[in-house]
Amino acid sequence: MESFATFGRGAHSSNTAAPRVNSVAKRGCYSKPRSVKSTLKPFGSATTPEALQLGLKADVKKVPRLLLEVLREGAVSFDNPDTTLELLRADAVVGVKGFWDEKRNLKSIGITCAFCHSTVDDSFMKGIGRRLDGWPNRDLNVGAIVATAPTLKPFADLLQTSEEQVRKVLLAWGPGKYDAELNQDGKGFRPDGKTAATVLPAAFGLAGQNLHTYAGWGSIPY
Ligand code: HEC
Repeated sequence: MESFATFGRGAHSSNTAAPRVNSVAKRGCYSKPRSVKSTLKPFGSATTPEALQLGLKADVKKVPRLLLEVLREGAVSFDNPDTTLELLRADAVVGVKGFWDEKRNLKSIGITCAFCHSTVDDSFMKGIGRRLDGWPNRDLNVGAIVATAPTLKPFADLLQTSEEQVRKVLLAWGPGKYDAELNQDGKGFRPDGKTAATVLPAAFGLAGQNLHTYAGWGSIPY
């Protein structure tokens, strides 16, 4: 069996097809930008501190050196959405891939497995450091990020509910959590009223395990 390491390495570095999250993206929430500013927030129009606040991470090895200097000196441009775009252009945002038009304007974004299953060690500053693949990003507020999409209608239509209800469910997830089954079972909350999202699991040490962490979708291999 292909080990997670081999599987993950390819997936973490190049795939833009995280099937679960992308089902949202594919249904149009992020795919047809009206304007880069409104559509790609928090990826394109958020200031870097806002993006870091949502738990997005930057790989210090990919951040352009000039930008690192500026960040180190705490210069004003840190508060400029262009800094976020520059990070995306340098492929420095862990798990987020920008797609650009001929004029180098951001056209759309893709999410890789590393979005949730990798983080950084904060060696440069909180949110910026050396990449840790397979370590879950427990700061990442997946729900809040999805909820910033200009429309949640495709998601609401899929779940046969209202956009407000979808937004309520997403905002209940909180940092480090994701409900991988929402688009299949349509259940946003547990019977006790708490969110149905689960904590992002570590992806290392799972070679040979078959979708068994919480969901129990796979077989029991041990
Ligand atoms: C939006 C966050 C997110 C993204 C993106 C994501 N995952 Fe996950 N992953 C999770 C969560 C949450 C679980 C636990 C799901 C559960 O069992 O409830 C999980 C579980 C897993 C597991 C453990 C499976 C198990 O149950 O034993 C593996 C392996 C995994 N993901 C690999 C991947 C790969 C490979 C990709 C890219 C194709 C990916 N993940 C993309 C959030 C994510």
